[in-house]
Amino acid sequence: MPNSSSPQQVPANASAQHTLAVLGFGKLASAIVRGCVSTGVLKASDIVVWARSDARMAQAHSMGLKLVDMNTCAQSGHALLLSIKPQFFSELAPQLCVAANTNVMSVMAGWSAEHIGARLKVKHVIRAMPNVAAQVQAAVTALSIPQECPAPAREFAMKLFSAVGRVELLHESHLDAATAISSSGIAYLCLFIEALERAALQLGLPKDVAKNLSLDVLQGVSKSASAGAFDAAALRASVTSPHGTTAAALAVLDAGEFSQLITRAAQAAKDRAAQLGQANQ
Ligand SMILES: NC(=O)c1ccc[n+]([C@@H]2O[C@H](COP(=O)([O-])OP(=O)(O)OC[C@H]3O[C@@H](n4cnc5c(N)ncnc54)[C@H](OP(=O)(O)O)[C@@H]3O)[C@@H](O)[C@H]2O)c1
Repeated sequence: MPNSSSPQQVPANASAQHTLAVLGFGKLASAIVRGCVSTGVLKASDIVVWARSDARMAQAHSMGLKLVDMNTCAQSGHALLLSIKPQFFSELAPQLCVAANTNVMSVMAGWSAEHIGARLKVKHVIRAMPNVAAQVQAAVTALSIPQECPAPAREFAMKLFSAVGRVELLHESHLDAATAISSSGIAYLCLFIEALERAALQLGLPKDVAKNLSLDVLQGVSKSASAGAFDAAALRASVTSPHGTTAAALAVLDAGEFSQLITRAAQAAKDRAAQLGQANQ
């Protein structure tokens, strides 16, 4: 895991010229805003928010953010973060009047930069695909910045998403694959932990012990990964003695084609992302 994964503390005035408008204020947008304010990328007073529900607006208000209506929001910032559910963008886009030079950043899955740009009539659109670990500032964000994007907009996007973890710059053609690995990948790992917990119960361990041991395994691997150069295959080999207990377990996983199954799962996620993208053309 690269060292740049930790959110960076920056001087409070580093982006003084920037204001951010946030359209949609769910789990992800609120995590990004919290990360930005806590790391000093933006002041709460430089952020305006519109969300459909009163509950989300109340949450934004409690964080010291300015609340505005939808169209004021679209026109309010140097940068506009689109964080509504992708299926509602078609419906909202015609109602939004966005200045052509706004730095539009979208976290919506399945909407290409080209199609967002065409709907909003803006010059360029940055796409970001963070994962839910943004809530604990440990996300990885696959970030795609078009070449024509001016340097200040590029730098601002880097700062914004670095506030919730590490950023991996990628060409947009790789975003669906990155989504399948790092956004959906959180669910694959959770499923593995759930399965380990169930196995522990089957082996007769008490419920709380089953849960704790499974989580401890995850934390142990995670800590090894963040300690420096990490090689998953080498760590696995180091705990697998020939004819030992781990070797017996891995033989069962191999016979069940565990690795191939993960590849097929990731391929299915990538294909689904592409399908969603085509539906939005
Ligand atoms: N969570 C993740 O890990 C993750 C990762 C990568 C990308 N994303 C993307 O991030 C975006 C937000 O996801 P989230 O996880 O933050 O979801 P969320 O917590 O469910 O929040 C979704 C936001 O979209 C708004 N919304 C839903 N329907 C709407 C409609 N018809 N009109 C206007 N606004 C509507 C919700 O409004 P109200 O609740 O106020 O009604 C809320 O503000 C999505 O586009 C998703 O694809 C999420």
